[in-house]
Amino acid sequence: MDLDSLSRKLESRESFPSLPEVLSDVIHEIDAENISMESLARMIQKDVSFSAQLVRQANSGMYADAGRVSTVVQAVRLLGFRMLKGFCLTLPIFSRYRNLSGITELWYHSRVASVCAGIVSGHVSGVEKDEAETAGLLHDLGKVFLVLEMHAFTNDHLQTADDPLRSPDWKAETDILGINHCFIGARYGRMFNFPGSILDPILWHHEPGKAIHNKELTHVCCLGDQIATIVGAMHPDFMFVEPVILHSLDYLGIRPERFSSILNDCLEVVSRISTID
Ligand SMILES: [Fe+2]
Ligand SMILES: [Fe+2]
Repeated sequence: MDLDSLSRKLESRESFPSLPEVLSDVIHEIDAENISMESLARMIQKDVSFSAQLVRQANSGMYADAGRVSTVVQAVRLLGFRMLKGFCLTLPIFSRYRNLSGITELWYHSRVASVCAGIVSGHVSGVEKDEAETAGLLHDLGKVFLVLEMHAFTNDHLQTADDPLRSPDWKAETDILGINHCFIGARYGRMFNFPGSILDPILWHHEPGKAIHNKELTHVCCLGDQIATIVGAMHPDFMFVEPVILHSLDYLGIRPERFSSILNDCLEVVSRISTID
């Protein structure tokens, strides 16, 4: 597919994986900001499969209350509106395509990046934890579109993921396709009315210096992404830490001792997260 046809595909909402109707309604209600968590939980329960997945995620070790969530309403209260919307957009898609190459690994990477971004946010003023976690969860969603639409390209990159001489995923995408997963993910996020604060980290998580608004959150997301690789939740199509991590640490004023304590906290949580949930 050439750049023109790829761009045309991206113009249409139908090109993106569709969501179950109940979840589109849930997202609509969250956006309208006029619904209680209890009413949202009742809506979600109409989708039995998503309800079970949501409770499992709330118990997955990503959160302090792991193992103690048994109902949808408890899960909704634990996650909050922003992360709930993030899970509405990611869980059904990653679950539907989990048999495609690289998708299970990408889902694990996204969940770990979410937790790591949340931990980093605790060391940065002005960045809310659930905002950082949502950005981490969604940051690579554009890759799903590439897996679905550009099989040959993504398969090649899965084969050479451990080649240290290869360009990072996002650079290779830009060089070969003229577009990358960051741009695609931000477009997807815009279709679902995510605010600019979340779109910036999706768009610039590999080049945080280019973010114009939400710079802190973008650097936090960049660190969450790179730390996920350090702690073993690598991208399925590129397995190395990028030098940009130094830029984000410097921008956020995180010194080596603090970074090592962040890494310990991330390792501790990640050891509780299953690779296949
Ligand atoms: Fe990425
Ligand atoms: Fe990533």
